[in-house]
Amino acid sequence: MSENKFYLRMEGISKAFPGVQALKDVNFYVARGEIHALVGENGAGKTTLMKILTGALSMDSGSVSLKGSHVEINTPTDAQQLGISMIHQELSLIPNLTVGQNIYLGREPRWKISAFIDWNRLYTDSQELLSQLDVDVDARAEVGSLSIAQQQMVEVAKAISLNADLIAMDEPTSSLTDRETEVLFDTMRSFKKRGISIIFISHRLEEVFEISDWVTVLRDGSLIGSEPIKDLDEERVVQMMVGRELGEMYPKGDVQRRGVILEVNNLHDGRELSGVSLELYSGEILGVAGLAGAGRTALAETIFGVRPAITGDIELDGSPVKINSPGEAIRLGMGLVPEDRKQQGLFLNRAIRENIVISALGKLSRFSFINFSKADKLAREFAVKLDIRTPSLRQLVRNLSGGNQQKVVIARWLTLNPRVLILDEPTRGIDVGTKVEIHALMNQLAEGGVGVLMVSSDLPEVLGVSDRILVMREGKVVSEFSREHATQDNIMHAATGGKVNSDK
Ligand SMILES: Nc1ncnc2c1ncn2[C@@H]1O[C@H](COP(=O)(O)OP(=O)(O)OP(=O)(O)O)[C@@H](O)[C@H]1O
Ligand SMILES: [Mg+2]
Repeated sequence: MSENKFYLRMEGISKAFPGVQALKDVNFYVARGEIHALVGENGAGKTTLMKILTGALSMDSGSVSLKGSHVEINTPTDAQQLGISMIHQELSLIPNLTVGQNIYLGREPRWKISAFIDWNRLYTDSQELLSQLDVDVDARAEVGSLSIAQQQMVEVAKAISLNADLIAMDEPTSSLTDRETEVLFDTMRSFKKRGISIIFISHRLEEVFEISDWVTVLRDGSLIGSEPIKDLDEERVVQMMVGRELGEMYPKGDVQRRGVILEVNNLHDGRELSGVSLELYSGEILGVAGLAGAGRTALAETIFGVRPAITGDIELDGSPVKINSPGEAIRLGMGLVPEDRKQQGLFLNRAIRENIVISALGKLSRFSFINFSKADKLAREFAVKLDIRTPSLRQLVRNLSGGNQQKVVIARWLTLNPRVLILDEPTRGIDVGTKVEIHALMNQLAEGGVGVLMVSSDLPEVLGVSDRILVMREGKVVSEFSREHATQDNIMHAATGGKVNSDK
């Protein structure tokens, strides 16, 4: 095999952060026109490797070559000039600029004679890019007004507009719907035909197997293997990732449901919800499925007081309650793990420990002194339960890997011992091993009598975890299925408005 077969060669890459060896002597080779999946558990080093490739981080040792020649990539501009672009795991768009401004930031098209920005061209070109991607977003809209999925697609449009030969996509699909993912995959396939290489990071192995030609697995910063997809199956990849056999993906105990703990009647938020009613029982996991825009997040947020309800009643344990803010919801014994954990959940410049216990602090302080040893114990307990990978709980959350940051938010809500726990996309961006842990924790909570309401776009998860499933469409609950009768087909059917046989 000739050395130049590879478009990209990264060799002997090492990188240490205080207390963590994030990459240990990693070799990574990508061929031209190949879709190359990079997989591994949360904290395995995937993002670090891509940041080194794209000049966002420097390496301690190692070398990089492109098309057979050694290259020095010290800044993101170096990478761009070499035809390498990256779609970041944490969205890096500027919320108060428009979509078009974000796409062409720093390289705005200009009038030939004057140096003024050609706004018309900027917006026409961006709109064209978006429509190529089948994204229904106005290029003149402010990015801050878009959903996370839409923002993700804007990132994709931006990467494409850079005309790169190599695109690193760090979990581009984690907040996309199936339909949006398919559109992205079509785009990736057409890139491939044009000889563009793509590095694809995802925790969804079905996707990895659908789209990739080659898979490289990292574990704890080391290269575990790199093989063509045709020589692998999911089980083997999981084994390489976690280094052990994994238990049942959806452990499900025999939980007895008790009385109704939360009742919602005819809830409207004046925008996305048009009359939602539901009952959540103590001891059950109620799954809420539906397409993006069906109102699932609106439902979670309206119940929890994040958005005001226009009309509708909520009863908790049989008593009517008014929930006008998340603070009130928390006082009533409710918790919400939000979908957009990065924006709504974390204090990035605070320690992991503080982030975990911050909501529980009220319970841990007496005479307004914080009981630090209790706080420490609590933080440690949940860090272990959720397998948060870090050298120290004093580490800033900013320095955690994406998936580990998510675990911190989940841990925080669990410390509150809520009676009703709402989880919006609880395992998005979470690795397979921890997914199992989170599902097990949800079961434990239900066994302990908590009512768990889980919104998820991951159908196998909805089917595997829920005792009962509601399907939402256009701001309403349109179907209900028992665990026994729910299938991927009848849920999708209900979600898209086809005819289905539901239990009701
Ligand atoms: N700036 C930083 N300071 C300190 N430690 C860091 C920093 N960035 C990353 N790390 C650590 O390096 C390790 C690798 O992190 P990385 O973000 O590369 O993981 P990942 O494979 O992308 O995980 P995920 O699937 O959760 O996104 C982790 O232990 C992480 O905590
Ligand atoms: Mg990452």
